[in-house]
Amino acid sequence: MNPLLQDQNHIQRLHHSLLEWYFAHGRLELPWRNLRGQVPTPCSTLAHIDRSYGVYISEMMLQQTQVSVVLNRFYFPFLERFPSIQSLATSQEEEVLKLWQGLGYYSRARNIRKTAIICTLSHQGFLPRSRIELKKLPGIGSYTSGAILCFGFGENASFVDGNIARVISRLFALPQASTATLESLAQTLLNTQDAFNHNQALLDLGATLCTPKNPNCLFCPFTDFCQGKSNPHHYPTPKSREILPLTLLLGFYKKGEKLSLCKSRSKLYHGLYNPISLSNTQNAQKIASFSHHYTKYAIRAEVYLCDGEAPEEAEFFSPKEIEHLPISNLCKKALKCLQN
Ligand code: ADE
Repeated sequence: MNPLLQDQNHIQRLHHSLLEWYFAHGRLELPWRNLRGQVPTPCSTLAHIDRSYGVYISEMMLQQTQVSVVLNRFYFPFLERFPSIQSLATSQEEEVLKLWQGLGYYSRARNIRKTAIICTLSHQGFLPRSRIELKKLPGIGSYTSGAILCFGFGENASFVDGNIARVISRLFALPQASTATLESLAQTLLNTQDAFNHNQALLDLGATLCTPKNPNCLFCPFTDFCQGKSNPHHYPTPKSREILPLTLLLGFYKKGEKLSLCKSRSKLYHGLYNPISLSNTQNAQKIASFSHHYTKYAIRAEVYLCDGEAPEEAEFFSPKEIEHLPISNLCKKALKCLQN
């Protein structure tokens, strides 16, 4: 067994050091950390929000997305429009996608609506308080189920996301630990006296000090314990992220002031409106081109105005109508090209 884990005293000192740092430097004021039932003085604008639901929405938004983006633009408007599982369960998918517009990874938006419907039908309108049941819901995996149990229900649950994986890999100097190893270490390290703040602190440590590129080991509360601090960049071994080049030919047809768009059935943008994806540029005039990054794709987009008969899937919308449609950032950029 790792020497760090052999001595209960050692672990207690580590717990204490982490919480001391968190209460001095952590992001204590984040609204999803201050819901009713979590803290003595909850966030007053969210006083009517059920705690597990408020945590669930935050965790889904925070997957692959920066805290500042969720905090400044998405969390409050979403909960204002959908303050409960019931309100979400009776929504139209298009409206949920519209509120999600700009966050990307749109399967998350479709999944939260599906989850709300399942909870209404099978769990009396609440998220289930069980890891097994949570993991059966669309879009909820090992990490999110643990986060909902701990932050939403106050359970002593541990979990591992990218930030926590990096903190643990460095703490134990593990270059390529498996998910099972990391989850087991997270469980052994869990502070069952205060799992809520312990886990929020680990998330903050990974996001603010124990960062991938420039870890700030000098100020780290784990500095006395960390076995990887002399070579933090080795733990975990950096993964080369696969970036795929993709060329898209985006076509618009015009009918008076109306423009053609079509509801995407692709995995990338399912349910959002996009320009028509052309397979060739016959009868089409090139207007502009731009680059765009989305998930793992480096997209080169070419924008065309097309003549002739629009394909069957095309729907025509006025500029005012387009404002109310859920559209991708890619589509937004393409529409801008038409204005120039
Ligand atoms: N990322 C995922 N969950 C988070 C949380 N509760 N606080 C801050 N960042 C997070």
